[in-house]
Amino acid sequence: MSGLYFLVAPRLAAPWRAAPTRNPDTLAHSLPPTPVLQDPRGRPLHDLRISVTDRCNFRCTYCMPKEVFGRDFQFLEREALLSFGEIHRLVRLFHDQGVQKVRITGGEPLVRRKLERLIEMLAYMDDLDLTLTTNGSLLRQKARELRDAGLKRVTVSLDALDDATFRAMNDVDFPVEKVLEGINEASAVGLAPVKVNMVVKRGVNEHQVLPMARYFKGSGHILRFIEFMDVGLTNGWRMEHVVPSAELAAVINAEFPIEPADPNYLGEVAERWRYLDGSGEVGFISSVTQAFCSTCTRARLSAEGKLYTCLFATQGTDFRSLLRSEAPDEEVSALIRGVWGQRQDRYSELRSSGAVNLPKIEMSYIGG
Ligand code: GTP
Ligand code: 5AD
Ligand code: SF4
Ligand code: SF4
Repeated sequence: MSGLYFLVAPRLAAPWRAAPTRNPDTLAHSLPPTPVLQDPRGRPLHDLRISVTDRCNFRCTYCMPKEVFGRDFQFLEREALLSFGEIHRLVRLFHDQGVQKVRITGGEPLVRRKLERLIEMLAYMDDLDLTLTTNGSLLRQKARELRDAGLKRVTVSLDALDDATFRAMNDVDFPVEKVLEGINEASAVGLAPVKVNMVVKRGVNEHQVLPMARYFKGSGHILRFIEFMDVGLTNGWRMEHVVPSAELAAVINAEFPIEPADPNYLGEVAERWRYLDGSGEVGFISSVTQAFCSTCTRARLSAEGKLYTCLFATQGTDFRSLLRSEAPDEEVSALIRGVWGQRQDRYSELRSSGAVNLPKIEMSYIGG
């Protein structure tokens, strides 16, 4: 084990590699020159992740455990949600501030009615990288209309190939086959490459790592392994549940040799590795063992219009009341600049210093 670990760990931990890719100064220079809105740590505002609903048709045990998200759970009321018009206006204003990438999330975004209308409204900003993260359950039916509406690509969450494991993890007995059909349909209509996110939890689905790698290798889809994170307060996270990416990389490398690949863009969340036989790549998202806060360029908007500057934030800034008070664009833009201009977040870097007991927001509320 230690030998294998050593074989790949230097790459995942290598400061010589982390420096150029995770350096905020370099990052800022790689982005468009105007306007670059930066936080006090020099991190530009580049991505906006928008949750369009806090509801989901799955009850993944590590995200929306049934004991908490049961029949009586109070989800947001319909009127509390930002309308598509409100989201559209915010995206336009964030785009003016330099945002280049918009990711639609949930809960499960495809349970929001007529989501393709929102995509259509946003797609006219053709320099925007417009994408969506879904559990894939409704993707087979919706892929084509999403593509027609202007969506460019999708990321699908999938934690196991084995049907029994998958059903147990989504906890609503949803069959894996339907998600695989969704992935294939998305790819067939051109929402490609499809990225597949697998959260790995020790003792729950780590036995699925190699089957997943084998299945997606050569498929054109890109599998990424995510370290189980301590988001929210309901998922019972413990460090023992985390399978470090270096360990996963060693397991994969032993079966299917891999080598490091350059990031696609500076500040990329996933570390890319390619198969030596040319059959594609895998990624590792290692927020627990290798924090990437120093290049974090992401703002998150909740379904009710609160802006969070960290996945682990305890408080957001309300934009909905401003929008509903008919404030002019300049006022909304000033609030965007004000929030980003004061941002100090670096939760993953501080995790070990005991900041974990704060009332953090849930992943299903903010969308990952
Ligand atoms: P692309 O590379 O453009 O496809 O996007 P991405 O790498 O941001 O992928 P995606 O949005 O699918 O993010 C993958 C997962 O990484 C998320 O679901 C989160 O679990 C995690 N993640 C993304 N951004 C952050 C972040 O800022 N902080 C932490 N701690 N985790 C993040
Ligand atoms: N740790 C890591 N990833 C998580 N996700 C949800 N909860 C967690 C967690 N605690 C993932 C989902 C999905 C994305 C939105 O975030 O599986 O891929
Ligand atoms: Fe599972 Fe995603 Fe739904 Fe959470 S939001 S329960 S991770 S499908
Ligand atoms: Fe960004 Fe917060 Fe994640 Fe760090 S922990 S990378 S600041 S979202």
